[in-house]
Amino acid sequence: MTTATPALSRSAAIARLQSHREQHKWSLRDLFATAPHRAQQFSAEAAGIYLDYSKNHLRDDTLAMLLEFAGQIDLPAQIAALFAGANINNTEHRPALHTALRFQGEPQSEHEQAVADCRAQMRSFVEKVHSGEWRGFSGQPIEHIVNIGIGGSDLGPRMVVEALHPWRVEGLSVHFVANIDGADLSDTIAQLPAEKTLFIVASKSFSTLETLQNALSARQWILDAGCAEGELEKHFVAVSSNIVAARDFGIAAENIFPMWDWVGGRYSLWSAIGLPIALACGFDAFEALLAGANEMDRHFASAPLAENLPVLQALIQFWYRQCWGASSQVTLPYAQRLAKFPAWLQQLDMESLGKGVDRDGQPLDYPSGSVIWGTEGSNGQHSFHQLLHQGTDTIPADFIAIREPTSGLEEQHRWLLACCISQSQALLRGKSQHEAREELERQGHTHREAHALAPHKAVPGNRPSNTLIVDRLDPRHLGALLALYEHKVFAHGCLLGINPFDQWGVELGKLLGAQVHETIGGTVPEDWDGSTRALVEKLLG
Ligand code: F6P
Repeated sequence: MTTATPALSRSAAIARLQSHREQHKWSLRDLFATAPHRAQQFSAEAAGIYLDYSKNHLRDDTLAMLLEFAGQIDLPAQIAALFAGANINNTEHRPALHTALRFQGEPQSEHEQAVADCRAQMRSFVEKVHSGEWRGFSGQPIEHIVNIGIGGSDLGPRMVVEALHPWRVEGLSVHFVANIDGADLSDTIAQLPAEKTLFIVASKSFSTLETLQNALSARQWILDAGCAEGELEKHFVAVSSNIVAARDFGIAAENIFPMWDWVGGRYSLWSAIGLPIALACGFDAFEALLAGANEMDRHFASAPLAENLPVLQALIQFWYRQCWGASSQVTLPYAQRLAKFPAWLQQLDMESLGKGVDRDGQPLDYPSGSVIWGTEGSNGQHSFHQLLHQGTDTIPADFIAIREPTSGLEEQHRWLLACCISQSQALLRGKSQHEAREELERQGHTHREAHALAPHKAVPGNRPSNTLIVDRLDPRHLGALLALYEHKVFAHGCLLGINPFDQWGVELGKLLGAQVHETIGGTVPEDWDGSTRALVEKLLG
């Protein structure tokens, strides 16, 4: 992935788009009024996912300009480089081959061979746990799994396990612990029988503070329950690229599932980091997840840009970020089982695109990643939708609807879908003060009262949104949905001219955290700022 286009033409392209924005009135109501078939024109479908992007401030010429810019930066070549395993993570001189994790059929490369071998190791392990062959120190089968990991070693599997609740395997509970706050681990294991509990220490680096602290506490918990040192390996497996550190922790070599430096943490749920998914939902479900992602991969790699769902989503977010001052994007999955989807997407998007320099290290003179936030619908309607409808900011929204009911309560599912559809309709249409006055007078308010209240009841509308329809919330469609967003983030990184696969910005906090911790029982450096010194003295002194 190169910056390809010189910074000048990127800035020139943004300036041209900004000029285009300023030239038009941008009324969504008018766009639909003048083009009754707009929804058909501004929609696309792939891998069982339908994208309606018609409720956006997009004209034909807008889309043409955005696509022209994608051509200028040679986005197809950058997509090809991703799949070819080029060192597109240029600051770490690595490929970003998360797509190889979901290859189908026979391995076609050394990467895919390594993935195939790891999948076989995973399947064998899952079968041993499910069959009861794997026993703990007291000879009992394993009935509880605790995944200890954080960030990309937690958010993805945690979200998928919740999303695929109907696929849960009987007789095995799967838990996730991430936080350094001891309450996370202690509350999780408080009710678990140690002799029937197995921990997955999931850490690509095997050096993350939170994960190692939790793993050490878990280790002590198992020992306190009567497990001998020599039998700890019956209660710990690891997923890591740092085999030496995992072995030093005391994990048997055969219980370490490999990760590779050509997979970024936030892109790794398809690797052995997805072990909790396979344990919770069955290996077949895990493989269906991979197959769905692979179908989206093939779409992303081959579809013309104008029909390419990840590319279209990236272009739209780029348009709002650069030309509409949209500093955040809200994601609204209308499915309770996707309640953790926003948290997963936050790391994926914000840790990838929250950068201040381009691929060549030059400071950006345009905005980069947006703030990604959201919650499951319909709950958000009773929390922050007020701001989306009447606040002073325009916040582009992604609605995600699941066509098929996720429960036997089909009437409630119809209500859920009605809520989803009507929220995007309300954002588009709004309610004018005139409409509000008429409504108030019809309700019996006096003319004077109606005039006084109308400004408070008016809803500006003209607020953009995408709606994704996923046919059903099953492993295959979920895999396609998650891969869609991975590729959207990558494509947006190309548009911004940044490297979406490193995360140097998290290092300073980790370093300072260790230094603050070292002041416990010691002295606070004189050159630290007064606030930090006071906080250390109040909290750790
Ligand atoms: O937040 C920084 C980070 O390195 C993430 O990129 C990563 O997913 C997380 O910490 C956990 O890292 P590891 O899997 O190496 O423990």
